[in-house]
Amino acid sequence: MTGILAGKVALVTGAGHGIGRGHALELAKQGAKVVVNDLGGDAKGEGRGRDADVVVDLIKTRGGDAVADYGNVSDEAAADAMVKRGIDEWGRIDIVVNNAGIVRDKAIWNMSVEDFDLVMQVHLRGSWLTSRAAARHWRKIAKSGNGRYPGRIINTTSGAGLLGNFGQTNYAAAKAGIAGLTLTLSLELASIGVTANLISPGGLTRISSTIGMGAPKEPDDFDPEDFDPMDPSLGSPIVAWLASDEAQLVSGQCLRAVRDRLSVLKGWHEVAGVSSGEKRWKTEDIGRIIGTDLFGTRAPGLRLGG
Ligand SMILES: NC(=O)c1ccc[n+]([C@@H]2O[C@H](COP(=O)([O-])OP(=O)(O)OC[C@H]3O[C@@H](n4cnc5c(N)ncnc54)[C@H](O)[C@@H]3O)[C@@H](O)[C@H]2O)c1
Repeated sequence: MTGILAGKVALVTGAGHGIGRGHALELAKQGAKVVVNDLGGDAKGEGRGRDADVVVDLIKTRGGDAVADYGNVSDEAAADAMVKRGIDEWGRIDIVVNNAGIVRDKAIWNMSVEDFDLVMQVHLRGSWLTSRAAARHWRKIAKSGNGRYPGRIINTTSGAGLLGNFGQTNYAAAKAGIAGLTLTLSLELASIGVTANLISPGGLTRISSTIGMGAPKEPDDFDPEDFDPMDPSLGSPIVAWLASDEAQLVSGQCLRAVRDRLSVLKGWHEVAGVSSGEKRWKTEDIGRIIGTDLFGTRAPGLRLGG
């Protein structure tokens, strides 16, 4: 197939359903050969199955090339194997889209350690493991060649991770962690030409249906000619572009694609600051300093002579 990803090989994790399925279909449409990874469990991470097969069949029916992988992204050997699957199958891996995810929402006082750990493992550890496997592979090629490889990592964050969300201390921590992971990957891999970016997607999926948004739908349930604000594949063209050679100079960025809006988000940055004048801070002064100089909630009055 021809397109902006012709000749490339991509891994999309959690591509059996929802947003990942949309990414896999679009990457294939743009010419990439796709490793369709999916553990095949439910939205809480229970069970497993061969849900990836459906997407492989869809891609092949549409004239593309794909292979299924049923591994668990949070398992080290399985994560290494899914990256290697692209190399074994087609001799290369160019793109890693970390999308696999689950939710186990509860207010913190009701959340179990298991709910925290499993969500962290799938999202954060899973994204780290596949990124490491790909980074090791690309670095080896770069070192034995011209020092560069145009690899692409696209990680998935969310509004919960960037802004917080009630009932999601586990998920929000994992998604914020993925933002930190991605910024650091973009720094560590810049010298060999690999980019790392974040997508913050949206859509009516198995995950979002757990918060009462309605019954989930798959990207292929929507008419490609129509616009539906809940279609989980609305962000997939942005992922495909980030994966392309055209996006070589874009790294360490967070693009949010929700409904019809595409935006760039920036993280923590200083909005107000005050100097101690090279002295130690005194606890008894801090409330006044924060009120007047940082939050501006306290009138400064006349400050004469310091
Ligand atoms: N739906 C939204 O509105 C929304 C918003 C922000 C972020 N996201 C993120 O988008 C991503 C996709 O979620 P979705 O909404 O499409 O839900 P989904 O349940 O439809 O898709 C998630 C997929 O990940 C797979 N998966 C889960 N654990 C796995 C594991 N350990 N190894 C491999 N695959 C695994 C599931 O089987 C499933 O197919 C997630 O990272 C989610 O946090 C979704």
